Amino acid sequence: MSEHHQPTTDDVAAMYDRLTDLFVQALGGSIHLGYWDPPEDRTPIATAAARLTALVGERLAAAPGDRLLDIGCGTGLPALQLSRALDATVTGITLSTRQRDLALATARQHPHPDRVDFQLADAMHLPFADASFDGAWAIESLLHMSDPGAALREAARVVRPGGRLVIADVCLRTSPAGDAEHAVDATARIFQVARFLPVAAYEPMLTGAG
Ligand SMILES: C[S@@+](CC[C@H](N)C(=O)[O-])C[C@H]1O[C@@H](n2cnc3c(N)ncnc32)[C@H](O)[C@@H]1O
Repeated sequence: MSEHHQPTTDDVAAMYDRLTDLFVQALGGSIHLGYWDPPEDRTPIATAAARLTALVGERLAAAPGDRLLDIGCGTGLPALQLSRALDATVTGITLSTRQRDLALATARQHPHPDRVDFQLADAMHLPFADASFDGAWAIESLLHMSDPGAALREAARVVRPGGRLVIADVCLRTSPAGDAEHAVDATARIFQVARFLPVAAYEPMLTGAG
C-alpha cells in the first residue's frame, strides 16, 4: 500500500463521531466484519458480527468475575455481549464521544449495568494501573493507530502476567497492486486507517511488546 496521510487520534475520533450512527444502521450495532464459514453462508451481518465477537470471547479463555478491557470498544456491543457470555466485568475505551455516550446508554439496559463501563481513552496511553485487567481484546481498532506497537506495550502493561490479549484486525493476505491497491488506499483514507498490515507483521510486533 502506498503512503498516505497518517490519521491522528483526533481524526479517528471525528470520523467515528460523524459516522457511528450510520455504521450502526448498516451493520446492526457492532462496527466490525462478520464471520461467515463457509463464505456462501447467508447469515445477516449483525448475527455474523456477533459470531466474530463470540470467537474473540472463546479465545480469551476468561474465568467468571474476570476484569477485561475492550481496546477500541465502538458502541459497546461486543463488551456487553462478552460481559454476559463470560460473566466478566468489562471496561471499554474509545476515542469517540458519540460512541462512549451510546455505549453508556445501552449499558443502562444491561442486566448488570455495574459490570460494564465505558471511557474516553487513547489505547497508546492507557489511564490504567499495571496488571489491572485479567485479559483484553482489540477488534478492528489497531489498524487506526499510528503506533500499534505502543498500544500493544500498553496492553502488556495493564493485563496481568499470564492474561490474554485477543486481536481481530483487517489484514492484508497479499500485496495489493493496480486497482486493488487504489481500493485499499481509498478505504484507508476514508476510514482513517493508519495502515493495513500483512498478518506476518503482527507476530514481531507482539513479541516486541512483551
Ligand atoms: C472499527 S471500530 C471497532 C469497534 C468495536 N471494537 C467493534 O468491534 O464493534 C474501531 C474502534 O477503535 C477505536 N480506536 C481507534 N484508535 C483508538 C485509540 N488510539 N485508542 C482507543 N480507541 C481507538 C475507535 O474509537 C473505534 O471505537
